[in-house]
Amino acid sequence: MGAAGPLTSADYEALARRRLEPAVWDFIAGGAGDERTLAANPAVFDQVRLRPRVLTGMGAPATGTEILGRTWPVPLGVAPMAYHTLAHPDGEVATARGAGRAGALVVSSFASRTFADIAAAASGPLWLQVYCFRDRDTTRGLVEHAERAGFEALVLTVDAPHLGRRLRDLRNDFRLPTGVVPANLVGGGFSSPSGHARTEFDPSLDWSVVDWLRSISSLPVLVKGILTASDARSALAAGVDGILVSNHGGRQLDRAPATLEVLPEIAHAVAGAVPLLLDGGVRRGTDVLAALALGADAVLLGRPVLHGLAVSGEHGVQHVLGLVAEELADAMTLTGTAALADAGPDLLRLPGLPD
Ligand code: FNR
Repeated sequence: MGAAGPLTSADYEALARRRLEPAVWDFIAGGAGDERTLAANPAVFDQVRLRPRVLTGMGAPATGTEILGRTWPVPLGVAPMAYHTLAHPDGEVATARGAGRAGALVVSSFASRTFADIAAAASGPLWLQVYCFRDRDTTRGLVEHAERAGFEALVLTVDAPHLGRRLRDLRNDFRLPTGVVPANLVGGGFSSPSGHARTEFDPSLDWSVVDWLRSISSLPVLVKGILTASDARSALAAGVDGILVSNHGGRQLDRAPATLEVLPEIAHAVAGAVPLLLDGGVRRGTDVLAALALGADAVLLGRPVLHGLAVSGEHGVQHVLGLVAEELADAMTLTGTAALADAGPDLLRLPGLPD
């Protein structure tokens, strides 16, 4: 890395790797099984080619968008990730400060700082990621707590009837270090994330869980973990307010498709009925533009945010998000894309396909 310091999310990844304990690094970096899906997410983005459009007279690009009634200055939020205090002692509080007014910060059910502390540090929209546990009272408690703290939406994770087989964690017998706890779950004290997930995740959930969430909260409900058009249609039929195309960063079903791969069929099924978001492997501004061109309204960034947090706390988070936002503006300018709504499939050329 030159004197300029980190200039890309990959630079932050390399720095974070040096800084984190190997078992913590593995917990953050790893995926399920052979990690094929983990690898596929960025690999599919890497295949995208963008068509430049020149002399358009567009001036500076407009990167703002509106999601669930809130203006996001960039179409870039933070994906829910457990235990940010693994990466930095200030945990989600530093992430909230660093995320500033960027898009929504989605806070995990397994956040390691209290919702009230995170809310006090946040200036943009906060959404709660919900795991619907076997003990519905625990889930209800989480939702009520977040609602009281001013959270604006619920993101129900639907791809985790149980925890994926994450071989790195099993081999490391990964345990949470002392002091890293799920700060918003009563009766904590579980030292192994996989152990907790084994006993508390509910494999018998069906689509009626959306109705149940609606019965305990008036917040909009999005579902996270949709990878097929048919599940997207089921989600719409269940009355969701938004859909997040996600394979959990390759941490659940190994050999699930990359998210960008399935985005077009899902966008077709959703047809603008609700906001459509995507996460998994987004590392560059050009990735953001490709996802928007194929029908996403916004994307969420996962691991790169934890890398920024590990390297330099709130400033690292702010810098990583800022770099990707800057790259997006650069890519929009060089492709003659004046506003996000102008990004369509004609912007892309996929190698091997005729024009
Ligand atoms: C996650 N993810 C996740 N998802 C979720 O719904 N609830 C959670 O508690 C967590 N926890 C979590 C921890 C860590 C360390 C990682 C890396 C990921 C998945 C996350 O929301 C998202 O889907 C992916 O991380 C996005 O992919 P990238 O950007 O990391 O490639």
